[in-house]
Amino acid sequence: GRLAIGVDIGGTKVAAGVVDGEGQVLAQEVRQTPGDDPTEVERVIAQLVRAFADSYAVGSVGVGAAGWMDLDGGTVLFSPHLAWRHEPLRANLQALLGRRVVVANDANAAAWAEWRFGAGRGQRRLVCITLGTGIGGAMVTDGRIERGNWGVAGEYGHQVLVPHGHRCECGNRGCWEQYASGNALGREARELAEANSPVALEWLRAAGGQADAITGAMITALALDGHAASRELLEDAGEWLGLGLANLAAALDPGMFVIGGGLCEAGDLLLEPARHAFARNLAGRGYRPEAPVRPAVLGAGAGLVGAADLSRF
Ligand code: BGC
Ligand code: NA
Ligand code: ZN
Repeated sequence: GRLAIGVDIGGTKVAAGVVDGEGQVLAQEVRQTPGDDPTEVERVIAQLVRAFADSYAVGSVGVGAAGWMDLDGGTVLFSPHLAWRHEPLRANLQALLGRRVVVANDANAAAWAEWRFGAGRGQRRLVCITLGTGIGGAMVTDGRIERGNWGVAGEYGHQVLVPHGHRCECGNRGCWEQYASGNALGREARELAEANSPVALEWLRAAGGQADAITGAMITALALDGHAASRELLEDAGEWLGLGLANLAAALDPGMFVIGGGLCEAGDLLLEPARHAFARNLAGRGYRPEAPVRPAVLGAGAGLVGAADLSRF
């Protein structure tokens, strides 16, 4: 099929790849997301795209960005994890690249990929949640991504689940993403390390002895290796995940939930507690159908696959 370039810009990583019409990734590159300067991020994206465009005959470029896109898809209104404030991302990238660029929210792009090629293929109403730096969300109904009135529908990660809870980068407190994201795992582990808990020894070892270098990805990796305390943190995150999904089921009634993002690499260590908490908190349980909670088939790569595919339309 026709080739397109997809880029996924998250809070910590920029991933770019060449994707064919069946959603297969032919080549991929990953960079760290550069600090606080939006112009730097745009430069990195342009570099990655140019390198691929030099060696592949690509038609279009799609970008999934961890931010709130306006309805027209040109401007990132806001991002909790990046320095974008009314950033004209599309125009800037088009100027740098001299070609048409399509921009979407990163979770919207991931949901699109899972609906087209992944776990949610053909679902009439699919809700996709991405667990990475934050929590991304999106809903696809009858083959259309729900955009809301201003383009910013699907920001489920910023539902306040805990009044007066942990501070969130969005400016509020107690948002869902403060309890079930990669950042949440990292924060919990760092707290234990800073309290000199013996439970934190493995995390400190993984982080070269520096509590503030402990990340969610380290905890996921250790949990997969069988580390008990890491598994407990994933269990806690899974419980919060399931609670949030139950709320979403009450509001949105999807036929399936697909869970993607970096944290989905934890698999059932995260999803089993999530399924349990989901069922436990689902209103009307026993009298209503229960949406299955599935891992993303395209894994953490769903965002770039979806962004590439969206650029074809
Ligand atoms: C942002 C979303 C984004 C998600 C995942 C959230 O904090 O508000 O726009 O999709 O993180 O990156
Ligand atoms: Na979204
Ligand atoms: Zn928030």
